[in-house]
Amino acid sequence: MNSKSLVSIDDISRDEILQLLESARHFEENPNRRLLEGKVVATLFFEPSTRTRLSFETAVNRLGGRVIGFSDASTSSSAKGETLKDTIKMVSNYVDLIVMRHYLEGAARYATEVTDVPVINAGDGANQHPSQTMLDLYSIYKTQGKLENLTITMVGDLKYGRTVHSLIQAMRYFNPTFNFVACEELRMPDEYKELCDRNGIKYTEHTDFSAEVINSSDILYMTRVQRERFTDIMEYEKVKNLYTLRNAMLADAKENLRVLHPLPRITEIDQDVDDNPKAYYFDQARNGLYARQAIICRALGIENA
Ligand code: CP
Repeated sequence: MNSKSLVSIDDISRDEILQLLESARHFEENPNRRLLEGKVVATLFFEPSTRTRLSFETAVNRLGGRVIGFSDASTSSSAKGETLKDTIKMVSNYVDLIVMRHYLEGAARYATEVTDVPVINAGDGANQHPSQTMLDLYSIYKTQGKLENLTITMVGDLKYGRTVHSLIQAMRYFNPTFNFVACEELRMPDEYKELCDRNGIKYTEHTDFSAEVINSSDILYMTRVQRERFTDIMEYEKVKNLYTLRNAMLADAKENLRVLHPLPRITEIDQDVDDNPKAYYFDQARNGLYARQAIICRALGIENA
């Protein structure tokens, strides 16, 4: 595996996370630089995406590089039965970096085993979404002025939500307190609760999205119930609308509270929240550009200072 690949947030240390945040801050000051002149980046998206693909591609474009790839695998030779291994080996002949989203957990790790070109995991099934985590950390840092000692409430699909899984792993360095709000069917998997236990991280599980939980939070991290992860559509129908944040529910929230969501949202944040100054999800998505510029430069060994 190329040591500059980013497959899991676990691949990078606390210091590297802080370096990436500092790099993102530099890119926010000036996102248009010719740092990737002569470089070609592939974006291979086997699953739908709006923000992740477009922000990665914008990141490359603003840094003077070029992008090839596909946003719909049905237009690639994988539709003819080409294996992921062969696809990755072929694309590696053409590019300096591969950004890949795939519906199978472990697909990005597998890709790193068949190529020497660095690979950035843009989401693999319900497993990991490390670039989302970097933009989430950047958003938390920007809005709270720190990463340490925050109360973070995660709401919705905690079972299949790769963004919450990656975020827990990254936050283990910063002494968080977590509230996990989910129905029985979508509870946080044991492996992430065990990770909290091993790292001395306090967490509480709730089925009620109560005022008490909201008002104790610094960050409210809402998530979508992901229809695409359910094999039984009736199970999805049962749980899809259980938690909706409405503006009135923020009336007694802490001054510093910010509402984050990796997006897309369906019903879990009412549109009446959008004009509340605590709503930060669209700014969060913009931060993705700077965080991904930092990640791309790390993967290619390019200094941005
Ligand atoms: N947050 C996120 O991954 O969004 P997209 O699915 O639109 O890329």
